[in-house]
Amino acid sequence: MYTEMAVTPCLTVIALLLTMIVIKLVIRRIVGSVQNQRPVPPVVSWVYMMSALPTLLMKGQQVVIQDMHTKLGSVFTLSFFGVKKVTFLAGPEVTAHFYQAPESEISIDNLYEFTVPIFGKGVLYDVDLATRSKQIRFCTDAIQPMKLKYHVDSLLHEVQDYFSKWGEEGTIDLKQEIGNMLMLIAGRCLLGVDIRGKMLVEVSTLLHDIDHNGLHLFSFFFPYLPIPSHQQRDKARAKLGQMFGNIVRLRKNSGRIGVDVLQNFIDSQYKDEYSMSEDEITGLLIALLFGGHHSSSNTATWTGACLLSHEKYFVAAIEEQKKVMGKYGEHIDYKILSEMGTLHFCIKEALRMHATSSLLIRHAKKSFCVQTREGTTYEIPEGHTLASSTVVSNNLSYIYKDPHIYDPYRFSEGREEDKVGGKFSYTSFSGGRHACLGEHFAYMQIKVIWSYLLRNFELKLISPFPEDEWEKFIPGPRGKVVVSYKRRHLVST
Ligand code: HEM
Repeated sequence: MYTEMAVTPCLTVIALLLTMIVIKLVIRRIVGSVQNQRPVPPVVSWVYMMSALPTLLMKGQQVVIQDMHTKLGSVFTLSFFGVKKVTFLAGPEVTAHFYQAPESEISIDNLYEFTVPIFGKGVLYDVDLATRSKQIRFCTDAIQPMKLKYHVDSLLHEVQDYFSKWGEEGTIDLKQEIGNMLMLIAGRCLLGVDIRGKMLVEVSTLLHDIDHNGLHLFSFFFPYLPIPSHQQRDKARAKLGQMFGNIVRLRKNSGRIGVDVLQNFIDSQYKDEYSMSEDEITGLLIALLFGGHHSSSNTATWTGACLLSHEKYFVAAIEEQKKVMGKYGEHIDYKILSEMGTLHFCIKEALRMHATSSLLIRHAKKSFCVQTREGTTYEIPEGHTLASSTVVSNNLSYIYKDPHIYDPYRFSEGREEDKVGGKFSYTSFSGGRHACLGEHFAYMQIKVIWSYLLRNFELKLISPFPEDEWEKFIPGPRGKVVVSYKRRHLVST
């Protein structure tokens, strides 16, 4: 009797456990089969791919991607012989995971291997994730707004000095002038007074040699292919490394404390309290210069081209300078720069229309699901390469009213189209885990230059409005951007 009483609850527990296991298996089966039923994204047909080839060659990938987006929607896959599959994602509804997922699910490292011969061994995409995260933190710390404010004075000094060499009136290539100007500014912020005039011209030339020879499509897939252009790239990188290495060593040995990125890197320490080596510091300095120079220079030039061909906003930007001068006189600091809202919107809008990274790329380490605006759920399989087109995302007409029109006030209070559209609506600086860490730095540089130009020169665009260099890795305005200038002194209101 006693034994019978003890066995009965035991059997009940076992029966309950078995029932739970069966229910769990059934649920898993049902969920699994539902998941398996989730469709994969539509695949671009071979017929379409072949017919799009002439457009691809003549007008570039953006036109083709835009067309595929119109035909297939916000998620679609390109299959290259079934071996390589690239899934395109456009718009905030489907890109959150792309931007935010941890590296174990959506990764970037293998795709950025082409940067290793450029940035150098031992930094960023050549090191494990933990070290890379630490190095990215060193960079973020070195150019955070709190530290940027100390640079404004010396930047203004560089800008005044540079433009004092212009005559009373004349014509210039805005692209060239802004490129030179930004190299001086970047040199000042990164390396302080240790790098000057002649050296910067050499840095400019070497940087040009590196990107001209190291950013071909085949460099992306085979960065170490022993071809002449890669040899040129490596030669230029070695020279640049030597130059920067000397500067790092001299600073360390001199004991002088600078107020620049170099000093921040020298003072940075890994968790176990050891400092970065000279090679690591050199690599990070080159990465920042490389990552920031072209994009800032292109954006500053596009801002000029857009302002000079849109009277309404040009006048508004000048009026804003007059007001700022009325309040603060000639003085400019970081806070005053941040009060230049109209100029900020003019830059942001130029960058929306002319993004410097047209395609952001990742790798799906794990499959994941996205739901489109229309409510369709797609499963994107593990192993796919993922691509988000900034050009398509920044031109979605359900987010940006008349996206083809230059309208800086779309970002102003009351409209804020990018915010209303949701996180990841404006992707010119990317977003999430790999968001550009130089955004504040970029705005600061571009505002310093443009506030100076607006205050001191009458400007006119002489050449036609430039086309985009769609074939370039970091596309900018094509050809010369010829502008005439005449000195003036703006009077405050
Ligand atoms: C208007 C100027 C700029 C634009 C449009 C721009 C754009 C971008 C974009 C789109 C990315 C992300 C790429 C991706 O998601 O795959 C990025 C990353 C980055 N940018 Fe910028 N950038 C600008 C200026 C700068 C400047 C001035 C610096 C530094 C001085 C800088 C440093 C970096 C770095 C270090 C990363 C890598 C971040 C990471 O992987 O975590 N950028 N930038």
